[in-house]
Amino acid sequence: MRIIVTGGAGFIGANFLRLMVPRYPQHHFYNLDKLTYAANLLSLQDIESCPNYSFHRVDLAESDAVTALLQQINPDQVVHFAAESHVDRSILGPADFIQSNVVGTFNLLEACRAIWTVSTGKLFHHISTDEVFGSLGPAGYFIETSRYAPSSPYSASKAASDHLVNAYGKTYGLPIKISNCSNNFGPYQFPEKLIPLMILNALEGKPLPVYGDGRNVRDWLYVTDHCEAVWLIMERGRLGETYNIGGFGERENNEVVRLICREVAAQTGRAAGELEALVTYVTDRPGHDRRYAIDSRKLQTELGWRPRESFESGLRRTVRWYMGNRTWVDMVRSGEYRQWITRNYDQRPGGH
Ligand code: NAD
Ligand code: TYD
Repeated sequence: MRIIVTGGAGFIGANFLRLMVPRYPQHHFYNLDKLTYAANLLSLQDIESCPNYSFHRVDLAESDAVTALLQQINPDQVVHFAAESHVDRSILGPADFIQSNVVGTFNLLEACRAIWTVSTGKLFHHISTDEVFGSLGPAGYFIETSRYAPSSPYSASKAASDHLVNAYGKTYGLPIKISNCSNNFGPYQFPEKLIPLMILNALEGKPLPVYGDGRNVRDWLYVTDHCEAVWLIMERGRLGETYNIGGFGERENNEVVRLICREVAAQTGRAAGELEALVTYVTDRPGHDRRYAIDSRKLQTELGWRPRESFESGLRRTVRWYMGNRTWVDMVRSGEYRQWITRNYDQRPGGH
């Protein structure tokens, strides 16, 4: 099969490609990415020379470029990870979120509709988030049919994209599937998200900024468990269906930060209390959802998916990874990576 992976230079897309490209040499994987600030081709160094992998730089918000590229590739499947993904950035500047997440998804759907005259053997798998369902109270879980109630410009843009994907399934018979996953963590995550930010700040003895009272709850899933679930749904999930992905890994932010301090302390020989003293409570995020929790029983019973990592085992791996990959961290944080992109790609739109 020819499989397009959008956003493959981002956190989850890169983890997905790193798993699937070597595992499935019979399939060709086409990574379509705009290379925004969140992208990092260094994450793909181990697979970039695989014969069944290619990279194509494209902005999904540019419809002509998307149409031309999809006609050229003529994919059997599209798995759509690309999005602007950081809630705080969406509060400061929502425009990019509408362009990439809403217009970008629309362009991709239109391009697929144009080339897929027969739907047999085709699939558009849309990657989404539990944040589309808004905030939970102290009890209960999101199920696939929970009401959409997004709070941030980010989650509103993802909700819009989910609705578009569903509508293309119902109206045009496009072969679609959607998965809504809880918060991911693990290697290659851009260090502005909670877990890598706290790991790096703890390692560097910097303040650990916790929003509000720190009692917000997120449901954490190790990134490769998400990737395996997506592949399983692509292979065996039912067309037109939505699947929630989550490993029942709810943790309060205060607890997450405490566990990070303990893990960093254990791996560096420092005192956990010294790191915990770096916690600084800062002004809360506007519209900050209180609690997310996913009920993934549909995925578990229908397809037999189980997460491999617990929160603690995943965190151990993640701390070890950030400690062992300082070049990656230093490059993404210093802007050196952006200069490298400018030298290597900005002069060559359309990819290679
Ligand atoms: P990320 O920000 O790390 O990566 C996003 C990638 O998409 C980047 O490589 C970026 O360059 C690319 N991209 C953005 N706009 C683009 C455009 N207009 N055209 C082409 N490429 C573009 O994000 P992530 O954390 O890897 O998330 C991937 C997907 O998973 C997103 O759709 C997100 O909504 C969803 N998701 C993320 C989480 C999470 O915790 N990170 C949880 C559930 C769902
Ligand atoms: P984040 O990683 O941004 O994911 P999301 O907002 O998509 O859930 O944040 C996870 C939680 O951590 C969320 O409740 C906000 C909180 N948070 C902080 O307390 N401090 C921070 O510096 C960041 C980035 C997040």
